[in-house]
Amino acid sequence: MSKKILVTGGTGFIGSHTCCLLLEEGYELVVIDDFSNSSPEVVSKIKEITKRDFKFYEGDVKDKALLRKIFKTEKIDAVIHFAGYKAVGESVKEPLKYYRNNLDTTLSLLEVMEEFQCKKFVFSSSATVYGSPKSLPIKEDFPLSTTNPYGTTKLIIEGILKDLYQADPTWSVAILRYFNPIGAHPSGLLGENPNGIPNNLMPYIVKVATKELEILNVFGDDYDTKDGTGVRDYIHVMDLAMGHVKAIEKVFKENKLDCYNLGTGEGYSVLEIVQAFEKANHIQVPYRIVERRSGDIAACYADPTYAYEELGFKAEKGIEEMCRDAYHYIEVSKQENK
Ligand code: UFG
Repeated sequence: MSKKILVTGGTGFIGSHTCCLLLEEGYELVVIDDFSNSSPEVVSKIKEITKRDFKFYEGDVKDKALLRKIFKTEKIDAVIHFAGYKAVGESVKEPLKYYRNNLDTTLSLLEVMEEFQCKKFVFSSSATVYGSPKSLPIKEDFPLSTTNPYGTTKLIIEGILKDLYQADPTWSVAILRYFNPIGAHPSGLLGENPNGIPNNLMPYIVKVATKELEILNVFGDDYDTKDGTGVRDYIHVMDLAMGHVKAIEKVFKENKLDCYNLGTGEGYSVLEIVQAFEKANHIQVPYRIVERRSGDIAACYADPTYAYEELGFKAEKGIEEMCRDAYHYIEVSKQENK
């Protein structure tokens, strides 16, 4: 009998790519999403790509009555919890919205899981929990701290999960700390296309490439990095999705709580990303250097060794493929909307 996984936030950027791989691996899926940062077409796109069906519930993960209905009807074996607000800048302006949403959804979900004795859990955390790291590359046992409410919600939830596991070691929990996911599904059917002006580098570059935005603002060139611009560990979203498949296998195999970095271990500067994008897509990306963005750190990249040793996870896709797939997705979307 194949295992049944509940995926919260399964139509979001990382969730949708993960759903594709889980279906292809033979898992049964139940997805819940309120489309607050995605759209119903994603459900049909996942089915189109995988040629597999799954159950979808439109709703809010804070809604315990809905969760109980799902657990009663579906006999869920494990949960991957993506649902949550994720914009760093917005979280600084509206902290209560972030604390209420990200904590309430998680608490409701964990409470209902406990009621139904479903105790296998994979959580979307973030490298933001390392704050400003004291050295590089970042290992899982580095000290944790945060610089914005979004990051604090991730750190608080990690703490809740640790307390829960301490109280009841029959839980099995994988906390995944993502570095910077970019790229898109190679089909061009799934990807990242935020509304309005993007906060993150790759969606912004894509909009400059398509001439929706005029010029990329590079936030500072006086950091202590190879060329003075910020360095990050960009990971292809398909690789990141595979990390979830490995994490699910782990929670079924062993009852433990553990944290894993999901990154490539390679750091690229903003200017290197611009160059890689131009080379991969044969298109110019005009940019100018502006002031640093407040809250940014100079450099952040993973030591991916532990995820390799424990999960057998290794990112495979390089920076050019990430840039190519990110742009391909936008070109395909434009074709479709003609
Ligand atoms: N950058 C620019 N111009 C832009 C946007 C970004 O120069 O228009 C630079 C940033 O200064 C930084 C790099 O590009 O040096 C990457 O910035 P992103 O906004 O794409 O990503 P961050 O590393 O700031 O944050 C991301 C996620 C967070 C997560 C964090 C974890 O957005 O949710 O990674 O490390 F917490």
